[in-house]
Amino acid sequence: MPVNIAVIGAQWGDEGKGKIVDLLTRHVSVVARYQGGHNAGHTVNVGDAQFILHLLPSGILHAGVRCVIGNGVVVDPDALFDEIETLSRQGVEVDDRLLISDKAHVILPYHRELEVLAEARRGDRKIGTTSRGIGPSYEDKVARRGIRIADLADDADEADDGPLAAAIRENVSARNRAVGGAEADWRVVHAEARSVWERLERWVGDASLFLARAMDEGACVLFEGAQGTMLDIDHGTYPFVTSSNGTVGGICTGLGVGPKAIGGVLGIAKAYTTRVGEGPLPTELHGDAGNQLRESGREYGASTGRPRRCGWYDAVVVRYAVRVNGLDAIAVTKLDVLDSLDEIPLCTGYRYRGEVLTEFPSNGAVLAACEPVYETLPGWSSPTAGVRRYEDLPSEARSYLERIEAVTGVPIAIVSTGADRAETIVVREGLIDRWQADAAVPASAS
Ligand code: GDP
Ligand code: IMO
Ligand code: MG
Repeated sequence: MPVNIAVIGAQWGDEGKGKIVDLLTRHVSVVARYQGGHNAGHTVNVGDAQFILHLLPSGILHAGVRCVIGNGVVVDPDALFDEIETLSRQGVEVDDRLLISDKAHVILPYHRELEVLAEARRGDRKIGTTSRGIGPSYEDKVARRGIRIADLADDADEADDGPLAAAIRENVSARNRAVGGAEADWRVVHAEARSVWERLERWVGDASLFLARAMDEGACVLFEGAQGTMLDIDHGTYPFVTSSNGTVGGICTGLGVGPKAIGGVLGIAKAYTTRVGEGPLPTELHGDAGNQLRESGREYGASTGRPRRCGWYDAVVVRYAVRVNGLDAIAVTKLDVLDSLDEIPLCTGYRYRGEVLTEFPSNGAVLAACEPVYETLPGWSSPTAGVRRYEDLPSEARSYLERIEAVTGVPIAIVSTGADRAETIVVREGLIDRWQADAAVPASAS
């Protein structure tokens, strides 16, 4: 029986999910995104070529692989078209390999405007969002006034009095009340929203049904998470989070599949920690040490180009990700970034009022009062960059990884030693093998 696996960020996003999804895609025939939107930036390097996927599943780079954008994703049609065009210029054709759930919600221009306004109003307490309209689109969804992909097809709207027109009129009038200055004209927004349907239609369908049939036919699916556990709307460092569930539960709600469809869960964690935007980051490094990590790791956002905040590996955080996602194993990425360090601190717990906590506090005030507890491991004598066999790693690097396994409480299945697909060590063949079965290729995605 083929086993479907989930790839989930175990920290604050940008862990290298794109690279690992790409690596595992050769063992599957379908890759499905279940949440988030084009706030994500998943980088895949293949030889000299670099691809950055935002909305499209990273599996799109593999010819013949079907890609699904589930109902839990929020879709900005213009961003989608731009991404498809960029890929085409890079020699990758989407063709009929894409299926977008008709229930996915749409991001419209007023969502971006409302987000800018909300961030400005928050002042010092701003979240540091990606300004893609993600939050306001999810807000409309939960408030039951959102516009779904299928709504764009509404022919009754020719006369401007159908449900799409009514919803947009109401939403634009709310926007006009909220945003000062020039008013937006709902007719313009409506006409633009309708105009994308002709281009989108070929890819729109019932994603849950497609996945059910594909799995019945023996297809193997990879569920690609965006963001990371600590940015999850429920389990992350609220309110400094994104507006969706990037954790494992998001797969069921965001795609319409049952929990038993998920056969294995792989968490992705950097060998250190980064975060973009505001909010707590217990092991954050300020000054030279942080800058050094940022420069060695080229830690600048794949979507927004913003510098990422950097800190040491935080086992409390990844252990928490193991718990809330039921991770079977982790992939540790960017080990090579630590190559030039003499010593590497590893956070194993938090000191709070004289006690050591080993579980991530659910209370923000407690977290704010925590100090990381470190143990320090020696750096390595020779570089790990590009190493492809575990036994070729310097012994200190192996000790560091083994210590990560011990304090995180989960096996390491993959170690990544460079951005390229080839710069990878599969540590536990057995675990990965279990997830890799011969999979049938479903006939069509749409
Ligand atoms: P994602 O959002 O989780 O897919 O991660 P991003 O693509 O936003 O950020 C990860 C960055 O690290 C990208 O630039 C990758 O090309 C790069 N990367 C991934 N794995 C490695 C690695 O093992 N070593 C190095 N040096 N870079 C890596
Ligand atoms: P990938 O999939 C890292 C962060 C933003 C901000 C917060 C809320 O590439 O790992 P939003 O625009 O989602 O409302 O912003 O979440 N954020 C990410 N950080 N990687 C991402 O995606 C992110 N997507 C959102 O920086 O702090
Ligand atoms: Mg990213």
